Amino acid sequence: MKYFIKTFGCSQNNADSERIASSFKARGYRKARSYKSADVIVINTCMIRKAAENRVYGLINNLSKLKEQKPSLKIIVTGCMVGMAYRDSTGKYLLRLKKIMPAVDEFMPIDEVGFNHQPVRMDKKTALVPISNGCNNFCTYCVVPFTRGREISRPFQEIIDECQKLKKQGYSEVLLLGQNVNSYGADLVTKGHSIPEMEPVYVKHLGRLRLPTLFPHLLEAVAKFGFKKVDFISSNPWDFSDELIKVIAKYPNITRTLHLPVQSGDNIILKRMNRWYTTAQYLKLVKKIKKAVPKVQFTTDIIVGFCGETDQQYHNTEKLCQQVNFQKAYIAMYSQRPFTAATKVLKDDVPFPVKKRRWMKLDTLVNKYVH
Ligand code: SAH
Ligand code: SF4
Ligand code: F3S
Repeated sequence: MKYFIKTFGCSQNNADSERIASSFKARGYRKARSYKSADVIVINTCMIRKAAENRVYGLINNLSKLKEQKPSLKIIVTGCMVGMAYRDSTGKYLLRLKKIMPAVDEFMPIDEVGFNHQPVRMDKKTALVPISNGCNNFCTYCVVPFTRGREISRPFQEIIDECQKLKKQGYSEVLLLGQNVNSYGADLVTKGHSIPEMEPVYVKHLGRLRLPTLFPHLLEAVAKFGFKKVDFISSNPWDFSDELIKVIAKYPNITRTLHLPVQSGDNIILKRMNRWYTTAQYLKLVKKIKKAVPKVQFTTDIIVGFCGETDQQYHNTEKLCQQVNFQKAYIAMYSQRPFTAATKVLKDDVPFPVKKRRWMKLDTLVNKYVH
């Protein structure tokens, strides 16, 4: 029997697919070269934007034709769409998915795969290492807290053991993955996994005590294994601690290209997005990192055309980009997502042609060296 996995979305989905592959391998399946030669097809879905969701529907539609020719073919859908469906207590979302994709045999929550499978790694050089899953931040535009649920950190030692093994196996690079790696370990404190000398600190934007800095410890421990490169995504500006900057500065094998998603260069929009920093704080952080880590470069994520974004507010984003001089920006046009606060209480009122124009203008401005 042969399996084929198609992965949409971010690196976290790629990492999940590597574990799905191993669960098939454990059951004696072999990897198929294409959809056509597969007995089971797994679609690992993303729904960060409407366009990502539509790509999944399009593929399933094509696969349903394949299934007509080969009725024994099994189609399994997993990933963020299914995560959202299983977290929707009304059950409506799952019904909707079943209705849109009648050819699907099974909707499998990714949580069923777990971390106890040795991943079948897709890359020989860079190993993906998930350090947490889910997100507690609830940026108003974002569906991830609903698809992946609340943030759960992987045990410290489990990550270290995986990295040690990777080093022995000859991997030269590791990419640590989480929706917000900086908050790694905040939930481990209550489970007795904290580092003894660390005291919980008051975190203003949360209004409570938490351990904000397990990530620097983890990063340092991983860097010490001597990989050629240790990278991490994503890192949010509001809890990029001084301790983290110190660790990056100390270990030259830690990436010098930091991904620091800003989303907007306008304070009103940032607030509306529920991002807990101002542009001045973002710029101050960039300056502090540049001072401590010579030759550092920044990449970022930006959303244009968020609810109520005026020309002036968009222009502020251009301005911020010029000030930081990003090496690359992943720019997206705002897309309304189910269950999010923006969908519930704000209006998606920037017309599509305006979003498109802003997207093109910013892309030309920021990604000038890339094209
Ligand atoms: N956890 C990461 C981002 C994960 S989602 C962070 O906080 O930075 C990846 C990117 O998709 C986001 O940074 C954002 O720029 C974009 N994105 C998320 N929701 C979106 C939406 N509804 N419309 C358009 N872009 C969106
Ligand atoms: Fe979490 Fe915000 Fe990132 Fe979405 S954009 S994953 S809510 S931090
Ligand atoms: Fe998409 Fe889920 Fe990643 S919605 S961007 S695959 S966390």
